[in-house]
Amino acid sequence: MSTPPTPAEQRPVPAPAGAGTVSRPGGPVVLSARGLTMRFGGFVAIDDVDLDVYEGELHALVGPNGAGKSTLLNLLGGQLLQTSGEIQFMGRSLGSSTPAVRARMGIGRSFQLTSVVPGFSCLENVVLAVEAQHRMLSLLRPRTRPSDLAHARQLLDLVGLGAQAHIPVEALGHGQQKQLEVAIALGGRPRVLLLDEPTSGLTEHERHSLGALLQRVARHATIVMAEHDVDFVRRIATAVTAFNLGRKIAEGSAKEVFETPEVKQVFLRSGD
Ligand SMILES: Nc1ncnc2c1ncn2[C@@H]1O[C@H](COP(=O)(O)OP(=O)(O)OP(=O)(O)O)[C@@H](O)[C@H]1O
Ligand SMILES: [Mg+2]
Repeated sequence: MSTPPTPAEQRPVPAPAGAGTVSRPGGPVVLSARGLTMRFGGFVAIDDVDLDVYEGELHALVGPNGAGKSTLLNLLGGQLLQTSGEIQFMGRSLGSSTPAVRARMGIGRSFQLTSVVPGFSCLENVVLAVEAQHRMLSLLRPRTRPSDLAHARQLLDLVGLGAQAHIPVEALGHGQQKQLEVAIALGGRPRVLLLDEPTSGLTEHERHSLGALLQRVARHATIVMAEHDVDFVRRIATAVTAFNLGRKIAEGSAKEVFETPEVKQVFLRSGD
């Protein structure tokens, strides 16, 4: 038996909540990186990055194209292994653990519908995701456990697709597909959910719905998302870290970060 994980660090003084402040929940740091560096050949995509994600945060990673946001998510999720530096989850080093191991530990990653099984209903897809958290032996069970089915239904309700449970996934609109992706990612009961550009391709109306959904999800799981849409980030993120050319250039509340001269300059240049 392993010993329970210890929080890496307690935030010493909880920041006051309110518009423009970092409303960090004051909980433990769930995910942290120190000196994280990723080189592709001679190219440094992530350059000596330190990052702390507190439990319950809706933490946005922002920056222009090529800043390193997706690379960082891939390092956190284990899809890429860093050249140097360390990532800790609940105070424990993740070492070179695979994405599957990290998923079982509680780090979930949403991929754009690659996990959706065509021909199956929304509910069936979420059930598959819920069942996938069990080990092989339980996967051989001929029938879905009632508790898994109930959990899948709860997740569909949470993302606002309760009425679409029996609709084939192909029949969903783009915004609804995004909602389903979130439900599928939550199927593994992640403590931290990593999302890459959740609003891409969504209409303004769909962005609003997704924002409200992620705020609901953040009551159950910490969210780390790479996102281009500054208005969306301003609306829902409780903490923001900005990057340029692989380097961290600012961190804090959305208000603080987007008022940082270097961030303003970089966003102005990139036209974002
Ligand atoms: N597998 C790879 N091999 C070589 N270079 C890579 C690889 N993956 C990413 N890069 C480079 O690393 C840099 C950071 O890329 P990344 O995709 O992380 O940026 P991003 O901030 O997510 O950009 P975008 O906003 O366009 O999604 C880019 O210059 C990219 O070309
Ligand atoms: Mg990207």
